Amino acid sequence: MAARNMLWVGLVLLGVLGTQANDPNSAQPHFLIDKFLGPWYSVGLASNASWFLEKKNTLSMCKTTVVPSGDGGLNLTSTFLRKNQCETRVVLLQPTAHPGQYTYHSPHWGSVHSVSVVETNYEEYAMLFSKGLDGPHQDFRMASLYSRTQTPKAELKEDFAAFCKSQGLTEDTIVFLPQPDKCINEQE
Ligand SMILES: *[C@@H]1O[C@H](CO)[C@@H](O)[C@H](O)[C@H]1NC(C)=O
Ligand SMILES: *[C@@H]1O[C@H](CO)[C@@H](O)[C@H](O)[C@H]1NC(C)=O
Repeated sequence: MAARNMLWVGLVLLGVLGTQANDPNSAQPHFLIDKFLGPWYSVGLASNASWFLEKKNTLSMCKTTVVPSGDGGLNLTSTFLRKNQCETRVVLLQPTAHPGQYTYHSPHWGSVHSVSVVETNYEEYAMLFSKGLDGPHQDFRMASLYSRTQTPKAELKEDFAAFCKSQGLTEDTIVFLPQPDKCINEQE
């Protein structure tokens, strides 16, 4: 009897874990890292974190250049305008067993996040989803829209809004970022 119960509990757990692995952290099927490299503009963001909601209307677009990092992960170097100055920040994403899914150890927050390239066609757009995996920021959720150009089509913005909702983020948590007047253009 006990053994049968254990089996049943085991099957239920497998079922639950199986669902979690596919959703909402799934990645673009057959993710091709080489095609994902190069420059992107972060044109849309969404998060229900209170600090984000407070300052989302003061943010502007940043340029992020993706290169491979030595360990099979990604090095995201972002340039953005802050307090009228151009700043650069590097984020290193560690690989997981699943292509397109990464982990990020935040030195600032002291926490671990998962970052997934959930959907991309490589040429135009990518939709990323990040969430806290442990520690005080376990509740953290953020969706990002990356575009190869600074001027995404209206249709892409609508698709991103639908993506955010599918990840449990409501319309009021979404922001489409304005172009800054410096820092992200090729010649700078
Ligand atoms: C954000 O949404 C997630 C998922 O719906 C939830 O677990 C979390 O508590 C929310 N966080 C905040 C700060 O509202
Ligand atoms: C990340 O990439 C940038 C250039 O794209 C490079 O300058 C920097 O050294 C890299 N950092 C690491 C830790 O790989």
